[in-house]
Amino acid sequence: MSILFSPVTIRSLELRNRLWVSPMCMYSAVDGVVQEWHHTHLAQFASGGAGLIVAEATAVVPEGRISPRDAGLWNDAQRDAWAPIVRAIHERGAAAGIQLAHAGRKASTWWPWADARGSVPEADGGWQTTAPSAVAFDGFDAPVALDAAGIDAVVEGFAAAARRARQAGFDVLEIHGAHGYLLHQFLSPLSNLRSDEYGGSLENRARLLLRVIDAVRGAVGEAVPVFVRISATDHAEGGFTAEEAAAVGDWATAHGADLIDVSSGGLVAHQQIDVFPGYQVPLAETVRQGGRIPTTAVGLITAAAQAEQVLADGAADAIFAGREWLRDPHFALRAAHDLGADVAWPPQYERAHWR
Ligand SMILES: Cc1cc2nc3c(=O)[nH]c(=O)nc-3n(C[C@H](O)[C@H](O)[C@H](O)COP(=O)(O)O)c2cc1C
Repeated sequence: MSILFSPVTIRSLELRNRLWVSPMCMYSAVDGVVQEWHHTHLAQFASGGAGLIVAEATAVVPEGRISPRDAGLWNDAQRDAWAPIVRAIHERGAAAGIQLAHAGRKASTWWPWADARGSVPEADGGWQTTAPSAVAFDGFDAPVALDAAGIDAVVEGFAAAARRARQAGFDVLEIHGAHGYLLHQFLSPLSNLRSDEYGGSLENRARLLLRVIDAVRGAVGEAVPVFVRISATDHAEGGFTAEEAAAVGDWATAHGADLIDVSSGGLVAHQQIDVFPGYQVPLAETVRQGGRIPTTAVGLITAAAQAEQVLADGAADAIFAGREWLRDPHFALRAAHDLGADVAWPPQYERAHWR
């Protein structure tokens, strides 16, 4: 009996399996509005058997976009463009999630295949970035430190986007607290040099994330799963650690989060990461044990047996994969076959079902 292909219930949501699509920015939105590309891109993973598809980092306020081409959820036109995509995912038997994000000092940058690198000048559609402290990410323009009103506006942005996400039909909300973006910038002492109640001790550095969890939970009610993605280490001297991540995971549960999606890195350019298959799995295990909260593992998990083993070892409760879905949008159908698990294929594809 495969654990990977056994269903799991989180709050009121039943997911058909534990092999999920990790959020992946497409840098293909127009004024924050998702396009036909996003529809085809996300629906194909549902046809391919994913249990849950979490749509890309979606900015809760315009200045929270990584690039001018990011998806957004700060107005109703953006919400209405997501709705048919969610319906397409549901029609194909998967659950739909969305990652709510604010890029902080890593906002206003060029998309990966642009001719330029670094910060987008205001003349080219860029904007002034904000962060916990006025400390730039290497190679990017300096941000302005958020004041109390600015912090309150970030919290309200997450709450409003969460409400719109529910109106669009999303089943799961994931708060992006990883990869060196705004909430991670508050968590890490390398980017948070504040001396007020948002800086210094871990309690203070975690305060904004916990406020955002409270606000999102308050906006969506008790039935909806809320996940938090964190970078459980900065891979840099003096940075955020796995032990701190476990403590934050514990507090996050008390504030209404259901699961920590454990990633790593992205905060500083001088990070030293040793990358190998499943390299972030031990971090997921540390947060799961120390934080007493369900976790997902992500990062170079590309094969069915490998994913199954992570769950069998008790290191995580579900698996997120990113690039393997880009290589094979039917990754879950193939993985189920590899594990001998009997899963439903789309009836339209039944003639290709391995027997
Ligand atoms: C094209 C692309 C876009 C990504 N965008 C996001 C994103 O929006 N939010 C996020 O948390 N991670 C993002 N990631 C990271 C993935 O979600 C995932 O954590 C990472 O690729 C490691 O998993 P993998 O080895 O299975 O690809 C992105 C990765 C790729 C390849």
